Amino acid sequence: MTMTPEKLYLDLLKKTLSFSFWPEPPVPIETFNYMRPPFQKRLLSFLARIFSNYGFEIVERQSQPSPEDKEEGKIWPLNALTMIGLKRLDNLQYAIETVIEEKVPGDLIETGVWRGGACIFMRAVLKVYGITGRRVFVADSFQGLPEPDPERYPADQGDPHHTHEYLAVSLEEVRENFKRFDMLDEQVTFLKGWFQDTLPSAPIDKLAVLRLDGDMYGSTMVALENLYPKLSKGGFCIVDDYGLTGCQKAVDDFRARQGIDSKIHKIDWTGIYWRK
Ligand SMILES: C[S@@+](CC[C@H](N)C(=O)[O-])C[C@H]1O[C@@H](n2cnc3c(N)ncnc32)[C@H](O)[C@@H]1O
Repeated sequence: MTMTPEKLYLDLLKKTLSFSFWPEPPVPIETFNYMRPPFQKRLLSFLARIFSNYGFEIVERQSQPSPEDKEEGKIWPLNALTMIGLKRLDNLQYAIETVIEEKVPGDLIETGVWRGGACIFMRAVLKVYGITGRRVFVADSFQGLPEPDPERYPADQGDPHHTHEYLAVSLEEVRENFKRFDMLDEQVTFLKGWFQDTLPSAPIDKLAVLRLDGDMYGSTMVALENLYPKLSKGGFCIVDDYGLTGCQKAVDDFRARQGIDSKIHKIDWTGIYWRK
């Protein structure tokens, strides 16, 4: 492949957004304190506060993930702005470049954005190719995942994702991340709220790339039901969490119900996509 300045820039951006250049640093004790038993949690919070009064931070050493685990987005990174890893970022670039080249009409959306890195990358791809007629939609609660609703979605019974404070990133923080990369402009639209509230009335006419990253059965199903009908023929439906049983079931149920038989392509251990 010829490395044009555009490709070189996007390559550098992928490595920066996924923090691939650098080793994972030690983790401040507060980051995952919410997962510890109550006594340990209180004790460590107390100690962390005392130390911080004296200008110190308590951190936890962690073993370095293997390069493969990092590349395939198998870790919850400390500093990266996206956790999807390089293979899924490459796939996202391929999808956007393909819809541009083949003139598949429509905007781009990610449902479930965390710190916004994958959406920043989407905006960057449009920018380097001078595409002004497509928008990037950034859909998230900006407060983490919803509690399971097992009556509606039995497959989500007992799902613990909503307990992870680490997955809750505010809209202000995500906007700031866009700004740091010079990617916050009128071609970016934030859809803040639970998918079931924002997606049915989202001001989207057509989509060329639909990227689902909501982890749970319900979050995947709501996104598919509301957005798949807007995906243009030839558009990409990318699913980040096919490696999770709930998400996989939602995709399989939806495809069966809609009679979708387009070939599923595997991206890595969890990412898949198909073209409409
Ligand atoms: C695993 S993270 C997404 C990772 C992200 N795509 C990246 O590039 O690193 C899942 C995100 O989905 C959001 N989410 C999941 N279900 C949701 C729902 N039903 N409504 C709104 N946001 C939801 C969470 O807030 C969280 O930010």
